[in-house]
Amino acid sequence: MIISVTSLKGGVGKSTIAQNLAVCFAHNGYKTCIVDSDTNKSSLRWAGFRSEDLPNIPVFGSEDGRVLTQTIRGLYEDYEVVIIDGTPSLNKVTSKIIMLSDLVLIPILPSGLDLWATEIFLERYQDAEDQKEEKITGYFIMNQFDPRYNLSKDLMEVLEGSEIRPLETTIKQRMVYREAVLEGKGVYECTNKKAKEEIIRLTNEVQQAISTIAV
Ligand SMILES: Nc1ncnc2c1ncn2[C@@H]1O[C@H](COP(=O)(O)OP(=O)(O)O)[C@@H](O)[C@H]1O
Ligand SMILES: [Mg+2]
Repeated sequence: MIISVTSLKGGVGKSTIAQNLAVCFAHNGYKTCIVDSDTNKSSLRWAGFRSEDLPNIPVFGSEDGRVLTQTIRGLYEDYEVVIIDGTPSLNKVTSKIIMLSDLVLIPILPSGLDLWATEIFLERYQDAEDQKEEKITGYFIMNQFDPRYNLSKDLMEVLEGSEIRPLETTIKQRMVYREAVLEGKGVYECTNKKAKEEIIRLTNEVQQAISTIAV
């Protein structure tokens, strides 16, 4: 299964969500790896901090679109779950990543600017579907979501009316997501109970989404 966490925007939580999902899948017993497609190498660095006592999650680097395709095809043979940490910088690479994915997850922050950015992203998504000549399953993930603010609720409503729907699980803004990175961990491996529950819920919802994809 190839799951990509992608968006044309930086700072929306692609690496955070990719790492945290990978950790949950690994703890659920799936042979899991991450492909870091971003030039900033966030997930490769994260792996460098990860203790050998924790479930092994190899992270492979790849920025170039052609190498990326080969890397992912090769890993698909060896791993049950391949999670692609997307890049915001290269549109062509993003189209390729979408095409290669069984499931595409698109983090979005509760901000008008992020909502506008999704319009361009959805065009890339359409290009990828046209090239692949089939529908590709994708969901938005609301990150740093705060239900107390009207903007968060309004955005959720707009997304619910869009062709790509938001997952029911939202990710709140929590310090533990920032701290866990420095230990090469996912919040599943930290003591913050609410964050752990949230990421388990997200993983379950992603697994459920995967089970509905016809293969
Ligand atoms: N839910 C969250 N709560 C708190 N901080 C977050 C959350 N999600 C992401 N961050 C922080 O926001 C910044 C951008 O996240 P990152 O995963 O690097 O985004 P991207 O990979 O899309 O550029 C990082 O500093 C990260 O630690
Ligand atoms: Mg990143």
